[in-house]
Amino acid sequence: MSDNAPSADRSTNDRALRFYRDVLGLERLHYGMWLPDDELTMDSLKAAQKRYEDFLIDSIPEGARRVLDVGCGTGELCMNLKARGYEVEGLSPDINQKKVFAEKVEAPFHFTRFEDSQLEGGYDVIIMSESCQYIPIDRVFEVAAKSLKPGGYLMVCDYFVLDQNAGELSKSGHDYDAFLKGVVDSPFEIETRRDVTPDIRKTLEIADDWAEKILLGADILTEKFRNRNPFLWKLAQRFFGKKYEKAIAQRVLLDADKFSAVKKYEFFLFKLG
Ligand SMILES: C[S@@+](CC[C@H](N)C(=O)[O-])C[C@H]1O[C@@H](n2cnc3c(N)ncnc32)[C@H](O)[C@@H]1O
Repeated sequence: MSDNAPSADRSTNDRALRFYRDVLGLERLHYGMWLPDDELTMDSLKAAQKRYEDFLIDSIPEGARRVLDVGCGTGELCMNLKARGYEVEGLSPDINQKKVFAEKVEAPFHFTRFEDSQLEGGYDVIIMSESCQYIPIDRVFEVAAKSLKPGGYLMVCDYFVLDQNAGELSKSGHDYDAFLKGVVDSPFEIETRRDVTPDIRKTLEIADDWAEKILLGADILTEKFRNRNPFLWKLAQRFFGKKYEKAIAQRVLLDADKFSAVKKYEFFLFKLG
């Protein structure tokens, strides 16, 4: 099992994981796949996430057995894969995910960034569920090609940036054209693909709802303080101003229409030639 001790900042930042698990009660770290008539509830979100995982597993070509889940999060997909009879291994550079995975899944775990990994290889399928965007494009294909059996498959499900000039929205995700060029320059061919953007929009809508409520709650809770202590409030604003402004600027990330205009969430199954 590889253990390349990733850098401390990546390995100790567990805020996102704690927020998902402890605040929202979510075990999965991806957007999920909603049905058109789903209501915006926590139960629907959980069902959408399970539906997405089932879709990934159902898309594994027949005859495949050994699966590597790259950026395996808290190990939910690995647990599902094991339950469906696959031989599975997880990989993540996050120390907190390593701990959670060890508690939940009886399977090998590689504590490393994929691009630095020294895997023994021989996998039938490598899955990157919302983790591809963290790995340099050329290294995605180079390391996957080395780690797969001849004729093996690389599955990528992630969002990509269509418009590089859309501010906050352009900041995360690989450039779509650069990614497709990476495929052409690689030994992989596209076997199947599906635009998943419409299926994830309700995750943005429900998150935007929550953001609205959190901001309203903060406004109500600070109202008395603001009225009684205008000077202290001004001081606090100056102190927290940048963080608050950043949070407001990032609200655009939850705008489903803008997301669809700037980004594309796509499923790809690549076959190693
Ligand atoms: C948004 S989470 C997705 C988690 C999980 N695959 C899922 O679908 O719920 C991104 C995952 O990618 C992992 N990750 C980040 N950088 C990585 C890298 N360079 N190599 C491999 N995994 C990475 C994170 O630790 C995390 O597990």
